[in-house]
Amino acid sequence: MQTNLNKEKAFFIEYTDSFLEKGNSTLNENINLKKAHSLRVTDHAIKLAKSLKLDAHSVELAGIIGLYHDIGRFTQYRDYHTFSDKDSIYHGDLGIKVLQDLQKPMLFSSTEWKIILTAIHNHGLPKIEPNLNEEALLFSKIIRDADKMDIFYIVDAYYKSMLKGKRNVALELGLKNEDKLSEGVFKSFMNEEIILKSDMQFINDFKVLQAAWIFDLNFEYTKHYIRETDYLQSIISQITVPDKRALIKVKAENYLASSH
Ligand SMILES: [Fe+2]
Repeated sequence: MQTNLNKEKAFFIEYTDSFLEKGNSTLNENINLKKAHSLRVTDHAIKLAKSLKLDAHSVELAGIIGLYHDIGRFTQYRDYHTFSDKDSIYHGDLGIKVLQDLQKPMLFSSTEWKIILTAIHNHGLPKIEPNLNEEALLFSKIIRDADKMDIFYIVDAYYKSMLKGKRNVALELGLKNEDKLSEGVFKSFMNEEIILKSDMQFINDFKVLQAAWIFDLNFEYTKHYIRETDYLQSIISQITVPDKRALIKVKAENYLASSH
């Protein structure tokens, strides 16, 4: 790597700040949200890589991927005014294009660059694509877990702020705020399946989709984090369909307790 994490962080902050516009509070809130998310995911990815006892170079690479995994979010929001990939373009692939335009490939060896691209492409897919080589698979797993650790925190904070009447349409992806839960989403959860964003109709479906990420965690470090923080419990407690909420709660607790 002809770079280091601190240098890239400084670049990232300058890049993301260039999207801010004076007086445009909605835009600025969303840009700052993704900026802060990326910086926290960088830290999660580093700690996770260290927990796996990876060498210093790999730990730094995990941090770089954390920093840049959502780099497509800024042009996505500027150009499409949404974070919904369905209504725009998959932000993982958008991010790859952004990094290419920013001349980032030349800072890395071709092996490192391939790992970075593969991990960014895979970070937001419902499932990791098959047939990745061992290294690309490892870094894809790290970024997916590190990303989820922070999204649990963000969505928990968001649902709590919703209770106080504060909304952010970009985070709700156009879902209906009704006391309903789609039957298919509920069934998928109870079968320990990943839920597709395209199957969501209600905000409650989104809460269940996020809770279902526990079935897709790759490392004990991440499961430990989910057990030790209240985010998952809190998200589940905010599902506004009481009978199904109770079943989801028990299912999630049993799964986490048994999956060491
Ligand atoms: Fe993302």
